[in-house]
Amino acid sequence: MNDNLQIHLLRQQIGDTICAAPSLHKLLDSYVEHLLNYFQAGCGFYTPFWYEELSLVSSLRVYRDDNWQASEERVDKLCVQANQAYEADPSRYFLYSSNEEPFVCIRLQDQGHPETWLIFGLDAPLDETTLKDVSSIVPWLQNGVTQCRQGVLLNSAQTRIEEMTRGMAETMSQLVQAEKMSELGKLTAGIAHEVNNPIGFIRSNLETLVDYVDTFDSLFKELKSSAKTNEEWGNLITEIVEKFDLDFLIEDAHEIVNSNVTGIDRIRDIVSDLYAFSRKGNGTLLPITLTDVVERCVKLTKTRFDNNHQVVVNCRTDRPFCVGDASQLEQVVMNMMINAAHAMPTGGTLTIDISSTANRLLLKFKDTGLGMDKVTQQKIFLPFFTTKPTGEGTGLGLSISAGILQTHNATVTVESEINQGTEFVISFPLYVE
Ligand SMILES: Nc1ncnc2c1ncn2[C@@H]1O[C@H](COP(=O)(O)OP(=O)(O)O)[C@@H](O)[C@H]1O
Ligand SMILES: [Mg+2]
Repeated sequence: MNDNLQIHLLRQQIGDTICAAPSLHKLLDSYVEHLLNYFQAGCGFYTPFWYEELSLVSSLRVYRDDNWQASEERVDKLCVQANQAYEADPSRYFLYSSNEEPFVCIRLQDQGHPETWLIFGLDAPLDETTLKDVSSIVPWLQNGVTQCRQGVLLNSAQTRIEEMTRGMAETMSQLVQAEKMSELGKLTAGIAHEVNNPIGFIRSNLETLVDYVDTFDSLFKELKSSAKTNEEWGNLITEIVEKFDLDFLIEDAHEIVNSNVTGIDRIRDIVSDLYAFSRKGNGTLLPITLTDVVERCVKLTKTRFDNNHQVVVNCRTDRPFCVGDASQLEQVVMNMMINAAHAMPTGGTLTIDISSTANRLLLKFKDTGLGMDKVTQQKIFLPFFTTKPTGEGTGLGLSISAGILQTHNATVTVESEINQGTEFVISFPLYVE
């Protein structure tokens, strides 16, 4: 093969290698292989150039011909020789010596990483043309390293960008959900406010109606008793009463208006609770009774629990007082309760315990639900962490709760066991009058 063709072939091989190399090491491996063939050298390897010193220890692979009569020392010696050639002229990237042990060394820069040196022990010195040909290839080799490194960087940057985009899309959808929830809160407050008025006049109309029904009742009683004094008059009254089933109507009217009063009172309570809940706390901390907060939440979360659930509230202290923002704390308690309900899809018991020590007020939520593993427990207070399907969980409940509790100087801890249940313990500074 003529020399020209050989260097041409080498260039082509290097070009192909650069295009195909999946990693820097693979690229350098191929470089060594091709150059080894080209030089028909007995030994070749690449090694990083650390702190002005070559280290064979860190060289990945030494290619050695079986016929190459060489020991480790000879490889070491190649490093020393290359180092000396470099010290003599540090600006050269193609180091060569035709001494009794000829070698070629090609220095490849690697953007912020240590230079990589390709070193070949030759069997014979190179002729002028080959020397020129090989040194002309150094920029090619360098180019490959640069491209490969950029490719690697690009790939990892791309993966990172993809990850971030995915994360952002997720966060966005959760933010939208959170925004919806906050809109829902405002909407609820608005509706509650609007509904309050009609409830007010329905209630007062019903009271009047109760009075009217009472009056009608008395009227009939009087009519009936006066009918006893006049037979004709009495027959007429009896006829009318039977025809219209007036006895039943009067009795039923009493029941209807009374049950309406009870119904409207329930609606009034629910609306006022909803209003209290959706009204954003202004963060003013005042002495409050924690049992009131809990009781309001128990009423509000009634629909979240069914017949298979039990919600037990135990107040074990006569001082259930702390300093706080009642509506913010309602948000915390509601979230704890709804989380517990979610964790007990087929039923169970949620026990809410309020107790106190010398200077702390403790609020415990213990459920008999699905529980969490340790890894989940570590993440639950992170914003947007949720194990619930989209639409059901926003992952904001506990992170918002943790924020609220922090402003109350309260701490929250969790203990949980898979399929056993979960206990959250919130500890407030006790308010003492
Ligand atoms: N009582 C509980 N039992 C089991 N897991 C819970 C309980 N409370 C919270 N978690 C876990 O913590 C996660 C985060 O809760 P949270 O911040 O309220 O957000 P969300 O309820 O929207 O998922 C839940 O998705 C769930 O995995
Ligand atoms: Mg929640």
